[in-house]
Amino acid sequence: MDVGFIGLGNMGAAMARNLLKAGHRVTVYNRTRAKAEALVAEVARVAESVADACRGEILLTMLADDAAVEGVIFGNGGTGQSLPAGSIHVSMSTISVALSERLWRMHKERGQIYATACGFGRPAAAAEGKLFIVAAGPPRDDRKVPAIARRDRTEDVRHQ
Ligand SMILES: NC(=O)c1ccc[n+]([C@@H]2O[C@H](COP(=O)([O-])OP(=O)(O)OC[C@H]3O[C@@H](n4cnc5c(N)ncnc54)[C@H](OP(=O)(O)O)[C@@H]3O)[C@@H](O)[C@H]2O)c1
Repeated sequence: MDVGFIGLGNMGAAMARNLLKAGHRVTVYNRTRAKAEALVAEVARVAESVADACRGEILLTMLADDAAVEGVIFGNGGTGQSLPAGSIHVSMSTISVALSERLWRMHKERGQIYATACGFGRPAAAAEGKLFIVAAGPPRDDRKVPAIARRDRTEDVRHQ
């Protein structure tokens, strides 16, 4: 699967590596470019911009907090403007309910699909594919979301 991944911090870098190991074609973007380039040896493609990371069937974001997510999603050239209709955004950051609802509304208006998939566990668990992930999104997406995270435990999927 063609996957975009934005946010290569302690959690995100480990998760992106697992996607690469699982054979997905992963395009990575990180504000600090050096962290993205560190994954080139593992065959990731480094996106030139946030928009450039939005060309796959699915985009995962693992950003620090509300401010980081708002900047990347709603900013000029952000993913909200760049994701094609029908694409899925899986937000894995720990963010407020208010922002999650705003994301859901914005993606719906643009014909994109929003899912949230919060991971419980430390970076070591992410590296080992042992996060406990609580995913929520429209029913038709749950085939793709667990497939992406299938090395982790996705035991509880709820539908909005
Ligand atoms: N660490 C844990 O044990 C843990 C466990 C469960 C859930 N979480 C959640 O997972 C998320 C990521 O955690 P983490 O530990 O991976 O955090 P982290 O190591 O601090 O990484 C944060 C990521 O967000 C990016 N970022 C921060 N501010 C930004 C901004 N204004 N614009 C664009 N990018 C920005 C950082 O880019 P730069 O590299 O450029 O700084 C980095 O890629 C958080 O929501 C956290 O609460 C963490």
